Amino acid sequence: MTPAPNDSEGLTALLARAGFVAADEEAEELLARAAGDAELLDGLVRRRLTGEPLAWITGSVSFCGLEVRVDPGVYVPRWQSELLAHRAVERLPAGGTAIDLCTGAGAVALTFSTYRPGARVVASDVDERAVACARANGVEVYRGDLLAPLPRTLEGRVDVVAGVVPYVPTPELPLLQRDTFTFESTLAYDGGRDGTDVLRRVLADSPRFLRPGGALLLELGGEEADALRDDLARLGYVDVTVLVDEDGDLRGIEATLGRAR
Ligand SMILES: C[S@@+](CC[C@H](N)C(=O)[O-])C[C@H]1O[C@@H](n2cnc3c(N)ncnc32)[C@H](O)[C@@H]1O
Repeated sequence: MTPAPNDSEGLTALLARAGFVAADEEAEELLARAAGDAELLDGLVRRRLTGEPLAWITGSVSFCGLEVRVDPGVYVPRWQSELLAHRAVERLPAGGTAIDLCTGAGAVALTFSTYRPGARVVASDVDERAVACARANGVEVYRGDLLAPLPRTLEGRVDVVAGVVPYVPTPELPLLQRDTFTFESTLAYDGGRDGTDVLRRVLADSPRFLRPGGALLLELGGEEADALRDDLARLGYVDVTVLVDEDGDLRGIEATLGRAR
């Protein structure tokens, strides 16, 4: 039975027994969302106990210090992408232009527009629910495949293209966390046989939009950075670096479009 809306300890204990690692934080979020309504709290807790993502239940998640609305069915922005988002902001000059590919709820786009308020920021996603959610978050978002739906007037003028695109190798999809695999769409994760299908298409298409000297930042994993090196060189990218967090974990790649192409 769900504890009363004032029983934070009871709810923490219930969630901990169910195996939720951050049970105390989750309890606080659920209690705040229920705002004292016992029946509502019961419904929220029951949903969480099925493994449904917490952000879908509370309606938002924190990303780069921002509260981002996340609707049910939309990929939940991960803290693991924050390093890439912060680095992408550093590459965006004041008054510049940025693209967030595969924007989902719009977390990376929002990070751009919050920390570079004078910038033009556009985004795309192929999923209808993601587009609606990003739009509700105030993002200028276009529905379609990668760069295809974006305004042609931006071609050759973009300072930064960033993306947390699908990059999980198809054979590894069943290894994703149970909750992820059960609730989230494989569309958000499936990067093809070796995980680089979407990444390679982004590498090939971005030079049309990037200005010479503009930056491309992409989240990836495993051996994917090495797998992309030949493509990056052939397509005219220079200064390719891998982004690694303070624990030594790979978080993405950063490359610059060469000036002489
Ligand atoms: C891993 S999620 C990342 C979402 C967001 N960037 C974030 O970090 O919260 C990948 C997103 O890519 C979208 N997507 C998948 N294939 C796409 C494609 N070909 N063109 C545009 N969006 C795509 C999915 O709908 C999903 O929202």
